[in-house]
Amino acid sequence: MKNENFGERMSSNYREYKLRRKELMAQMELNSIALIASAPRRTRSNDTEYLYRQNSDFYYLCGFTEPNSLLVLIPGREQGEVVLFCQEKDKERELWTGIRLGPDAAYKELLVDDAYPIGDVDDIVTGLIEGRDRVYYAMGRDDRFDTLVMGWVKTIRGKSRMGEHPPSEFLVLDHLLHELRLIKSNNEIKLMEEAARISAEGHKRAMAVCKPGIMEYQMEAELHYAFNRGGSRAPAYVSIVGAGDNACILHYDSNNAEVKDGDLVLIDAGCEYQYYASDITRTFPANGRFSPEQKAIYDIVLDAQVAAIAAVQPGAQWDAPHNASVKVITQGLIKLGVIKGQLSHQIKSEAYKDFYMHRVGHWIGMDVHDVGDYKIDDNWRLLEPGMVMTIEPGIYIAPDNVKVAKKWRGIGVRIEDDVLVTKKGNKVLSVGIPKTVEEIETYMASNSL
Ligand code: GLY
Ligand code: MN
Ligand code: MN
Repeated sequence: MKNENFGERMSSNYREYKLRRKELMAQMELNSIALIASAPRRTRSNDTEYLYRQNSDFYYLCGFTEPNSLLVLIPGREQGEVVLFCQEKDKERELWTGIRLGPDAAYKELLVDDAYPIGDVDDIVTGLIEGRDRVYYAMGRDDRFDTLVMGWVKTIRGKSRMGEHPPSEFLVLDHLLHELRLIKSNNEIKLMEEAARISAEGHKRAMAVCKPGIMEYQMEAELHYAFNRGGSRAPAYVSIVGAGDNACILHYDSNNAEVKDGDLVLIDAGCEYQYYASDITRTFPANGRFSPEQKAIYDIVLDAQVAAIAAVQPGAQWDAPHNASVKVITQGLIKLGVIKGQLSHQIKSEAYKDFYMHRVGHWIGMDVHDVGDYKIDDNWRLLEPGMVMTIEPGIYIAPDNVKVAKKWRGIGVRIEDDVLVTKKGNKVLSVGIPKTVEEIETYMASNSL
């Protein structure tokens, strides 16, 4: 495949990670230390584990993908500001669980100042923490890591009569680090575009294979085939393939029902590519043709999405796209008679919430629901170039909602794309998947698997 420049690309990535560490360290308080742990392995059942995935914060700062590792940042330390602890080379273990980089190679490749075996962490890290006033770490996320850190601090306290100086302040690293992660670099945007491009192939395959009688999980298989084939190792989240009434369940993931003639199928699925997520939803008719009622609801959601995307502008408030979508959806539902009353009143009374009960989107990046604050001092923050968010309005008319005429019940539609804030406006990263009624019907009529 495309591996010609792999070595060069990796070393330029490591340079980017190094710059991120520098930027983070420049913002840390005086005389402080940051401890960033790798993700633990997680059990799926008995002695079988989930596919390992590195913690996003850890990966963001060093690009290292092995478990049992610890990254330590000590700004201003003369003997070296960046220390990595990682698994030692071990022929026997490597035969079972895969090649390890080992401290010597890690030191050279990852551009850190020092690398040690993780087995030596207790002895060495206490020496690094000793004398620092403040410790930054992800407090309260992982009980085992909390216990480890407290153990190290206790060891230092135990020696305080010998003149050792334990830290007096503990700070969460999240705020500083997550503000950095919120603004994506050009390299990150390229990875997100590639994630979206691969996901688009999956969505097109699922649309092409869809016909009444197929099972939801068989469509899921087409998505995942395209993801892996395109270079992704795994979906960024559990794929949602919901037909008929299942489209009205926001996080439906049983994916085990048969798709029926006349159903709408809602697919919310995106791959992860080199640690970057995509998150895309399309809704389409199982038999390739929208009914008049399905089309009416679909067009409102599409108009809401178009209006919300247009509201993604640098300097706009985070809330602006959501408000734009609420207005179009409420207007549309009043026009269809699903909501009764006057527009401004029904927006204020939140009548739309029976049908559109989530917000228009979320940050997306290394995590599908990515990090970064939405408010600053109680006010919605302003959008800035480099932020990426999803825009995903929906209308879900519960099958048992007797307040609504029967013909509308059981229709669930969501349309979701990933949108970058640019200097001049916005750029939709998830392109190339049929989206209008006409595009979908034409695509389904002329493509099948
Ligand atoms: N796929 C989860 C979400 O859309 O937020
Ligand atoms: Mn989604
Ligand atoms: Mn989403």
